[in-house]
Amino acid sequence: MKIDRVLISEEEIDEKLAEMGRAISRDYADKNLLLVGVLKGAFMVMADLARHIDIPVEFDFMAVSSYGGTKKSSGVVRILKDLDEEISGRHVLIVEDILDTGLTLHYLIRNLQVRQPASLALAALLIKDDVERPDLDVKYEGFHIPPEFVVGYGLDYEEKLRNLPYIGVMVADDEAEDA
Ligand code: IMP
Ligand code: MG
Repeated sequence: MKIDRVLISEEEIDEKLAEMGRAISRDYADKNLLLVGVLKGAFMVMADLARHIDIPVEFDFMAVSSYGGTKKSSGVVRILKDLDEEISGRHVLIVEDILDTGLTLHYLIRNLQVRQPASLALAALLIKDDVERPDLDVKYEGFHIPPEFVVGYGLDYEEKLRNLPYIGVMVADDEAEDA
């Protein structure tokens, strides 16, 4: 398991999160914002993005599973941990690491919408281009990336590499074996 190259550096991530944080602080200036992080992948984005938000915010987390131990989306979304608090009447911003097939978020958004939040919006650090997905409005987006499997900064390969401070592209298994 090797990193082929750095796709987005620590500095680039931080600059982007600062931009997103400023926009969020401005848009929710007079509101009570609840940030909902999608575990596990979004834990780093959540922590670092929140430090760039300068209005009062509350935090909650959901844990969902859409990937087995593999690189492909199974299309099956399971809620492993639901929100601690009710969100009816709250301004909710879902914070995600990456938008790939969009299946997870599509499911989550429908699931949370039923609970009647005052507003429900989406922030995602990474958006994979050239992927067919349901129509999702990402209000705060970080980087568009090619449809490659990336790791680091919260994103895992078989539960590892989440701790890399940057986003990297992995060498494909067959290439790694040849190396
Ligand atoms: P979805 O395909 O948009 O439903 O993505 C669901 C989840 O799969 C994301 O929240 C990530 O945790 C994970 N995921 C998607 N693409 C990648 C990737 O390139 N590397 C690591 N995890 C990924
Ligand atoms: Mg994930």
